[in-house]
Formats: sequence, structure tokens, C-alpha cells
Amino acid sequence: MHKISKLAVLTSGGDAPGMNPCIRSIVRTAIYNGLEVVGIRRGYQGLIEDDMFPMGTRSVSNILNLGGTILKTARCLPFRTDEGQEIAYQNLKKRGIDALVAIGGDGTFTGALRFSKKYPDIAVMGVPGTIDNDLYGSTYTLGFDTATNTVIEAIDKIRDTADAHDRLFFIEVMGRDSGAIALRAGISCGAEAILLPEKETAIDDLIENLKSGQSKKKSSSIVIVAEGDKHGGAYDIAKLVEKQVKNYDIKVTILGHLQRGGSPSAFDRVLGSRLGFAAVNALIAGKTQMMVGLEANYIKLTTLEEALTQHEFKLEEDLMKMAEILSI
Ligand code: F6P
Repeated sequence: MHKISKLAVLTSGGDAPGMNPCIRSIVRTAIYNGLEVVGIRRGYQGLIEDDMFPMGTRSVSNILNLGGTILKTARCLPFRTDEGQEIAYQNLKKRGIDALVAIGGDGTFTGALRFSKKYPDIAVMGVPGTIDNDLYGSTYTLGFDTATNTVIEAIDKIRDTADAHDRLFFIEVMGRDSGAIALRAGISCGAEAILLPEKETAIDDLIENLKSGQSKKKSSSIVIVAEGDKHGGAYDIAKLVEKQVKNYDIKVTILGHLQRGGSPSAFDRVLGSRLGFAAVNALIAGKTQMMVGLEANYIKLTTLEEALTQHEFKLEEDLMKMAEILSI
């Protein structure tokens, strides 16, 4: 069993609101349990460059409300190489670090698992932090709730102007290969259609749907396009539709990176605190190569192997069906 004494924490991949509450929780839970804590800047990049600093309870004061990550983040290619991993290992060893918490998405966990298999004397725990909500083993990932609320706020505003001008808007939202944000935002904003990577939508059906809305005197139409949708981005889809629907005034909005910023919601602050607390306690209990997640409102541990191999996150069929019916 791994008995740990000094723990390092990093955030990696795309930042997500809720990472800061999670860092705060990790630092304070570790110190409460008599562990030393080291923060690593810019994810695996800082691990390779030995960019680390000791963290105390006051170093995480007043960060619960901050978006982004105080540790900064990066997408680090050198950590995918054997050389990069060896340097990272030596940097941890020379500082006496025997446990690592990695907050991020599947790319972060892929690196963490490979590292931990090569160097099993460093205990590794993953925390799901990505706005995409696409990890097996946790119903919610950090940042998803805040990002969805940010999207809703933006789409509500677009609806005002769309309605004033009787316009059709195609709005592209983030999620990489996941339609989780698109689906929740679509339900919340009453989108006329939601295009998701998880579900094929024929352009003809979309056009039929929009025409039917027009005949029912809808004054505006909003189509949410998840960035991973098979037809391409919102501009591509708007062009396809424009060719066949003549009397619509069509506009396109790409919401982009504003979806990643902002103060974390209450849900993400609590989730970050819970996952951070659970991650440290799991390491103290001797666990390694695992991810802490939330299932049915309880903390659950999943092996990193499982979280990665079964990472196909399934969107709820019933929500997709309901969204269609409620938008008639
Ligand atoms: O994984 C989070 C995410 O925001 C995705 O939704 C998006 O596809 C990607 O990151 C964008 O990455 P970057 O900020 O590196 O352009």
C-alpha cells in the first residue's frame, strides 16, 4: 500500500470553472491530514520544467469564486514521450513527492495512467475537470454546469434579438466530440433544433422542422450546433440550409471560449470541493491509478483504465426525445 507524505497537484488540458475550488479543497484536505502540498504550474509542462512551489492553507484563500485555474494549464506534447515522463519522474523524486492529483479530461488521464504504470511508486489520482462532460465514471465533470449556464445566458440574449427581427440563428457551442452542453442548453433555451455528434440529423429533416415552425407562426428559430456535429460547424450548416430555405434571415454565432470562463456556479464549487476532498482521502487510503467521480450524488472511484477505455459518454436518449417534443 502507498503511504503518502507529500502530494503534488496540477491542472491540465482545457481549463474549467470549478478547478480552483478543487485545488483549494485538495490543499486544505491534505494539510489537515498532515501532508505537504506542492502546486505544479502549467500542468505536465511545469512538471517537466520543474516549475513547482509549496502550497499552504492561505495560498488558496479567496479562489472559490475564480474562473480559470490559479495553477495555470497547458496541453503538453513532451509528456507523451518516454524522455518527458522520465524527467517528470526525476523532478518529483528529487522533491520527495509520492502522490500526484491530476485535474483534467481524458488527455490528462491518458498521460497520468501511462506515467503511473511506468512509475508505480508515485500514487496517481485523477479528478474529472472539463466543460465537455464526457468522462465515463462521473455523471458530471467540473465546469460543465457553469459552462452550460454561460451558454444559456448568451442564447437568451440572442433569442431577444432573433425574436425582434424574426430571424433564424445557428449557434455553435463547445464540447469537442460531446453534445452534452448543446443538449442541456437546447432544453433550457427551447431551441427549435439541437444538432449533436451523438445523433445523426438529416438536413432535410432540419429544414422540414424549421418550415413547420414558420407555418406555426414562430417568430424566431434557434438551432444549437454542437461543435462535434458531423455536418461541420454552424457556418457550414447555415449554408446548407440557406440553399433550400429562401425566406429566412439567417445569422450565425460561434460562442467560442467565453464558454470556458467565468465564476464557477454553486454546483461546480461544491463538486470541486467534494472531488478534491475525495481525491486526497483516496490517496491516503492507498488508492492509485483511479479517478474520483460523482454518480447518483455519491462519490465513486473508477480505475483510470476504465474511465479511459469506456470513455464514450452516452447522452440521455430520453432528454433528446423530450427536447424534440417540447420544441414543437
Ligand atoms: O475540452 C474543452 C474544450 O473547450 C473543448 O470543448 C474544445 O473543443 C477545446 O477544449 C478547445 O481547446 P483549445 O482551448 O485548446 O482551443
